Amino acid sequence: MGGIVIDGKTKLLGLLGNPVEHSVSPALHAALASLRNDNYAYLAFKVEEDRLKAAVDGAYALGAKGLNVTVPYKKAVMPYLCEIDEKASLLGAVNTLVRTEHGFKGYNTDMPGLYRAMKYDGVEITGRPVVVIGAGGVSNAVLGMLYEARVPQILILNRTKEKADVLAERFKSAYGSDVTKIRTASYDEDYLKIMTGIEQEMTDHNPGSTEEPGSPGRWIAIQATSVGMSPGTDAAAIDQSAFYQKIEVGYDLIFNPAETKFMKLVKQEGGRSYNGLRMLLFQGIYAYELWNDISVPDEWAGEVLNKLEELI
Ligand code: ATR
Repeated sequence: MGGIVIDGKTKLLGLLGNPVEHSVSPALHAALASLRNDNYAYLAFKVEEDRLKAAVDGAYALGAKGLNVTVPYKKAVMPYLCEIDEKASLLGAVNTLVRTEHGFKGYNTDMPGLYRAMKYDGVEITGRPVVVIGAGGVSNAVLGMLYEARVPQILILNRTKEKADVLAERFKSAYGSDVTKIRTASYDEDYLKIMTGIEQEMTDHNPGSTEEPGSPGRWIAIQATSVGMSPGTDAAAIDQSAFYQKIEVGYDLIFNPAETKFMKLVKQEGGRSYNGLRMLLFQGIYAYELWNDISVPDEWAGEVLNKLEELI
């Protein structure tokens, strides 16, 4: 892939956040621009909190075609936008700004990005119980995706139960409890018993099912804490093997290291596991699609993924 030659027609794309130095988004978008022969420069801007509005207005004034927004501004940026997509508004977090006539419109591409990443990896979540580990900003997007995908059962496990409860209540009041049931537990509670109870409930609702409650490998687990991230790579939020015996697919949203302790534990008990690089990839691809009103084919996704793997 060749590089972009900057000239008088080059359009600006960029990332607002703090810190941004280690972001792979510039490489991701440079690769997409190069594949499409688009004349863009995507830069990472480290913005101080009290300059966030100035940064958004300034980028608009400079004709920026679009921006990504990362930690810690996914919520803070919302008041400075002319419009917010309904799903992003429900989530209370925006990671992509698209230029319109009147200002930037905000979207959240983390949520559909994860869904598409799972599809790309051949992970089917329909009808599955899902356990989400963590209750921070990343879990918020994960829960939005799970509710949109209408999964039947969600269990949030988090060190601080109150944070899991706040998150669960928000989604319960937005989506109701008819389709998706949600529960929470801390690591100190007997969450294995709660999981077995959920399995039993699913079997009772589906009497034709051949799967026994407690049978191994029924659950999808999504790891959304920062535990296990480099340099603390020998840790996992949960390490009991009885938990991992229940997991068919483990999805860690960490991508550095490429194989986390969580992923190893899933594999040790016979499950499949994936890291968060594809979620990162597809949230970026969705943003690029929004900026250009195009669809990026899967072959390109594969090429960009190779590039990101080399980089990390
Ligand atoms: P993010 O936006 O990346 O989700 P966050 O909002 O700080 O970041 O959330 C980090 C998540 O990792 C939380 O679920 C946090 O648990 P708490 O809610 O109990 O703080 C979890 N986490 C971070 N460090 C942890 C640790 N050492 N052990 C267990 N969980 C941890």
